[in-house]
Amino acid sequence: MPPITAPFPLSRPRRLRQSGWIRDMVAEVSLSPSDLIWPIFLVDGQDMRVPIASMPGVERLSVDLAVEAAREAADLGIPCVALFPYTDPARKTPGAEEAWNPANLVNTATRAIKAAVPGLGVMLDVALDPYNSDGHDGILRDGMVLNDETLVALERQALAQAEAGADILGPSDMMDGRIGVIRQALESHEFQDTMILSYAAKYASAYYGPFRDAVGATGMLKGDKKTYQMDPRNTDEALREVAIDLAEGADMVMVKPGLAYLDICARVKEKFGVPTFAYQVSGEYAMIAAAGANGWIDQDRVMLESLTAFRRAGCDGILTYFAPTVARMI
Ligand code: PBG
Repeated sequence: MPPITAPFPLSRPRRLRQSGWIRDMVAEVSLSPSDLIWPIFLVDGQDMRVPIASMPGVERLSVDLAVEAAREAADLGIPCVALFPYTDPARKTPGAEEAWNPANLVNTATRAIKAAVPGLGVMLDVALDPYNSDGHDGILRDGMVLNDETLVALERQALAQAEAGADILGPSDMMDGRIGVIRQALESHEFQDTMILSYAAKYASAYYGPFRDAVGATGMLKGDKKTYQMDPRNTDEALREVAIDLAEGADMVMVKPGLAYLDICARVKEKFGVPTFAYQVSGEYAMIAAAGANGWIDQDRVMLESLTAFRRAGCDGILTYFAPTVARMI
């Protein structure tokens, strides 16, 4: 070799990219099944699987099949499932009373799953929208979502869920003061170990469309959710919301939706250093699944890349409808 006389790059970052083993060795983040929470939709009946048109590949499952899915989750190393009900429109009322029925779909499924797969975590949403004939997360009067009246309903709902054996409650309603009310109720009913993963920074988003289909709320929603869910233009406000929820007794916090809000995930994790989750919501799932089905993107790679991005932004875990697919792949 002649001595090098010509200028050469002083730094060659490509050295560490030259083959798979070294890329793996220096990778800054990883994605594992234990980072995933699998949201599952429930429907009444026995041996029932009902496809959701706007979420190709996702089905509503009757409780017996949800138990099978829970077994599969555990086998795949997924630590937790989140259950959502499709409620028969006949059982939806302005007061959302079905929300605290001890025998409602989510409570029944929770009991069945905890009995069959005790080592698997079960998370339930605390919010009225699957049960409310107005499609809102709160109680309505004269077209207004009432904060403090809603808190009373949420407290009842949360206690019924804890009683059913839910490990994690996920208040997703965005009423002011709800974490404090729920934590207080849990403490005073000997549910001091029930965890709260607060949907702390939840935005009024168009990405939830397919979910409302899935829980049968499409067409029911009067108006929009902008008086309680956050304005997508705001960041500092998300930090204030997280601070409030932590002070009121949340153990973990969530940012929702996911991919369009990675800046929020990063700031929350950096500022508070608490377990931080993101929800890759139904609309995000639908976009990837639709483009994938058309052959416009490589679905598996886009799925992995997006989930890795959540980890890079600082998320400890992700709620994703892709959970079983990804867990099988990695
Ligand atoms: C209920 C709730 C919603 C989602 C989770 N919990 C919908 C909403 O707030 O309108 C959305 C999840 C998804 O889109 O995948 N409050």
